[in-house]
Amino acid sequence: MNSPGSLINKLNERKALNAYRQLRLAQPGMVDFCSNDYLGIVKEGLLTNNNKQSILDNHTLSSGSTGSRLLAGNYELIEETENTIATFHNTEAALIFNSGYDANVGLLSSVPQKGDTIIYDSLSHASIRDGIRLSFAQAFSFMHNDVKDLEKKLQHANGNIYVVTESVFSMDGDLCPLQELVTLCEKYGAYLIIDEAHATGVIGERGEGLVQQEGFQNKVFAHVHTFGKACGCHGAAIVGSLDLRDYLINFARSFIYSTALPAHAVYFIQRSYEVFPSMTTERKQLQLLIEQFQKTTISYEKLASLTPIQVVMVPGNETVKKLANKLQKSGMDVRPILYPTVPKGKERLRIVLHSFNTSDELQILIDALQ
Ligand SMILES: Cc1ncc(COP(=O)(O)O)c(C=O)c1O
Repeated sequence: MNSPGSLINKLNERKALNAYRQLRLAQPGMVDFCSNDYLGIVKEGLLTNNNKQSILDNHTLSSGSTGSRLLAGNYELIEETENTIATFHNTEAALIFNSGYDANVGLLSSVPQKGDTIIYDSLSHASIRDGIRLSFAQAFSFMHNDVKDLEKKLQHANGNIYVVTESVFSMDGDLCPLQELVTLCEKYGAYLIIDEAHATGVIGERGEGLVQQEGFQNKVFAHVHTFGKACGCHGAAIVGSLDLRDYLINFARSFIYSTALPAHAVYFIQRSYEVFPSMTTERKQLQLLIEQFQKTTISYEKLASLTPIQVVMVPGNETVKKLANKLQKSGMDVRPILYPTVPKGKERLRIVLHSFNTSDELQILIDALQ
């Protein structure tokens, strides 16, 4: 059947803007400067071990899925894993969602109610924005990492106030000013929600994330840990109080109306929490590469970032695509980030560093950008 003309028109608009997206398969043999496998957990196959089958056999009759967790889909391994996560993050409870996207949508669409206010960082991830769009609360953004602007917005907020941000920004690689956010939220009685997607496994002595590294787990209402980045698997958990967990089980629609993760996926989450806390050598190696990249001068503007996400500004979809193609032809898998994912004029190369990248590989990339 033909598709409506409006779809074709929108696709053509994208093509005209040089912003048409296509799926592509990874090319073997390239140096990985784009995956979220920050610590090499996937590359090194660290989540598989010989006990896998026996653990799965003990926990469930099959490694498939049997329903929503509120119906037939709940099983001991998920609850055990949630206890592991809550203990590791030093909070009362954790609730696993099928993805970080689902976690943010479930949390933000259900917790803030009509009459409440959500104030979110203007660079928040699409999943945060989509959750907010589904909420009945009023919402407005504050300028990226700008606590003065946040305070202005807090002064005009009504009802319960929720401040939402990320610990590491996915497209800029910078950190949120957590200490100042906590202070402001305390001053205005606001509930702070932190998405730790790109901090989990990477930030902190044991990869515990920014909230815990700074000792704020009791000052933050909810933190979201996703497992599809450094953890090397899939899914996410919302970490916070027992009341919050209870509430989400009852009201978060992306939790209630979706089939539970299968046991093999949860097994990998459990394994990841056994593996990543002790990967201190990898975290140190990452820091060395971050320093190497930050201290060099290149021909393009480079954003300040203390995280594996390094950003080189190359305005214009066509220009940034051309540069990314050139680097890819030289064997470096660097991806361009185009408008409309980022605002017009803010197109960029997003260079992701990994513990397994060598200093020489990084130097070749730096030389290519000089
Ligand atoms: C900040 C942030 N939050 C949430 C998500 C969504 O997580 P997931 O990939 O597990 O759906 C992402 C993924 O890109 C992210 O960068």
